[in-house]
Amino acid sequence: MSKTQPTYWDFIYENNDPSQVGWYQVKPAKSLAAIRKVGLTIQSSILDVGGGDSLLVDELVQLGYQNIHVLDLSQKALENAQNRLGDDAKQVLWYPQNILEGLDLKLNFDFWHDRAAFHFLTDPMEQILYREIASAYISPGGYLMISAFSPDGPTTCSNLPVQQWSVGELAHFYQDDFNLFEGFNYTHFTPSGKPQNYTVVILKRKLEF
Ligand SMILES: C[S@@+](CC[C@H](N)C(=O)[O-])C[C@H]1O[C@@H](n2cnc3c(N)ncnc32)[C@H](O)[C@@H]1O
Repeated sequence: MSKTQPTYWDFIYENNDPSQVGWYQVKPAKSLAAIRKVGLTIQSSILDVGGGDSLLVDELVQLGYQNIHVLDLSQKALENAQNRLGDDAKQVLWYPQNILEGLDLKLNFDFWHDRAAFHFLTDPMEQILYREIASAYISPGGYLMISAFSPDGPTTCSNLPVQQWSVGELAHFYQDDFNLFEGFNYTHFTPSGKPQNYTVVILKRKLEF
């Protein structure tokens, strides 16, 4: 079992104000811009992997998306989001689980979103497993958006080691099944004002495989 086990993340979410954790964003602007840019429809299926209690799901519900899925190791994080959404939580499908266990689902996703979850996988075998699961569940022509700490970003998050990634490294790692649609870097500021450099890639699932 990796260090990102549910009890650890539940502890983090139980003991921190959601708006005070380092990764908090008032508005997940980069993610929303990407979702707009790739041209999804209101019926497109969107999965937020390691979504925690991010406000992305609230924005997607508000925008009228009808096929929203949020997965996280921490039941507590998902409960925070569900409580915040109230009745709207019923419009979302929730998966309290480790993404590495795979998904017992028939459907595919048009947009797989991962902000600051994949980078906790520092074991190459776990990274490969994640890639296999993402490849299996993303529709041909669908998108994988990964935001991870960049090579000049932090080396840990919540006291866990992370792997830093550049745009080129992520594009290369996923190149068998995905083409790079867009890649960039940006600086996120934590609620205490600390800068954290991120790498973002939006990868497009190849049509032929
Ligand atoms: C730094 S937080 C980011 C949360 C959210 N993506 C955001 O941007 O606000 C990382 C999240 O990934 C989740 N996580 C870490 N490893 C995971 C895994 N293997 N499977 C599912 N969730 C995972 C944690 O529980 C945590 O909620």
